[in-house]
This record gives sequence, C-alpha cells and structure tokens, in this order.
Amino acid sequence: MDASTVADWLRAQPSLLGTPPRLDLGALPDDPVELFLTWIGDAARAQVPEPQATTLATVDADGLPDARTLLLKDVSERGWAVAGQRSSRKGGQLVSHPAAALNFWWQPLARAVRVRGPVEEASRAESDADLAARSPAARATIAAGDWVLWRIQPTRIEFWQGSPDRRHTRIVYDLDGSGWSRETTRGEQGREGNP
Ligand SMILES: Cc1cc2nc3c(=O)[nH]c(=O)nc-3n(C[C@H](O)[C@H](O)[C@H](O)COP(=O)(O)O)c2cc1C
Repeated sequence: MDASTVADWLRAQPSLLGTPPRLDLGALPDDPVELFLTWIGDAARAQVPEPQATTLATVDADGLPDARTLLLKDVSERGWAVAGQRSSRKGGQLVSHPAAALNFWWQPLARAVRVRGPVEEASRAESDADLAARSPAARATIAAGDWVLWRIQPTRIEFWQGSPDRRHTRIVYDLDGSGWSRETTRGEQGREGNP
C-alpha cells in the first residue's frame, strides 16, 4: 500500500460500531466512582474481553508523553490503582512526574472513560499484597520491593458514550474545593469530538 492507499483504507474502516446502552442523564450519580463501577460492570456483562485493561499515560523527565496497557487493580474513593515495576520506564516517569492519565475503551458499548490526576504510591504492604496475589509465574521475575501499586487520584473524569446519530454524550466530573462538579453535554453533528 502506498501512503494515499493507507489513508484511504483507514478512512474506509467503519468506526463506532458498538451499541450504546440506554443512559439516563437525569439519574447520574454525584460520585464518579459509582458511575465508573456501573460502566465497567456493564462492559463485563456485555462480554467485553478484559474490561479492566486500560491505557496508562505518563510523562518522562523531558516532558515527552508515553503510554502502555496495564490492568486496573482497584477503584475506590482513594483512586484508580494500577501496578508495575519500580525499575520500569513508567516507574521512572512516575517518579519524575507523579501524575498520569488512564483511558478505557469498551468498544461493544461505544463507551470510553478518561481519568487524570496526580499519582500516589501505595504503602509497601499494599504493593506487596498485590504482588502476592499474582500467579507464581507472574511473580517469578520480580525482584523484592520492585513491585509498586500506584493510585491515580483523579481531578477530572470523562465518561463518553457514542451515539448512532453522532450526537455523542460527554459527562465530565471535575474536582474542585467543594467536591465533584458534573457537566453533561450532548454533541451536535459535525462538531469536534463527534466522529
Ligand atoms: C493486556 C495487558 C495487560 C498488561 N498489564 C500490565 C500490568 O498490570 N502491569 C505492568 O507493569 N505491565 C502490564 N502490561 C505490559 C505493559 O503494557 C508494558 O509493556 C510494560 O509495563 C512496560 O511498560 P513501560 O516500559 O512503559 O514501563 C500489560 C500488557 C497488556 C497488553
């Protein structure tokens, strides 16, 4: 394929083929953790393979972004937890820039979630407990003390649901001094963010 063929081929690929579930915008919870748990549960019930897989984006010491796939380990008021090796690239990046973003995409439901905020390292006991919960094979290559559980403590969470009429829904929770504020928008056709 030459370059223009690739571009044509990509443009011809169908997108947003998922079937969005019914979404009652009048009954959204004030707490984004609750909505996230509903959505990841919906994804599991819809047979999304590995709905806990997520993209973790970090920034290196030079300000260059990086991203990779990880498994979500926990979600609570304390944050969204992921785990990996301190000695890894992400481990170094989270030391120089303790902030990150997560992105989930559950294709069959035309849903995506973005989470961003500062990152805090869990206690050594929590990290050790996460490592201990892994299979012996997965534990075998990890040096003692190198496994870290990180919590992204979101300041902004976006829930996005595509719509066949291209009027996609975006629900954004922002953390301010008094707690979570929420804004819901339904896109107009042809607007940015409405593929
Ligand atoms: C589905 C999937 C799940 C993964 N889960 C993890 C994980 O939980 N922790 C981890 O450190 N790497 C995980 N990886 C590997 C990472 O994507 C990545 O290759 C590795 O962490 C090194 O990234 P880094 O060089 O940016 O530190 C997973 C990869 C895939 C495809």
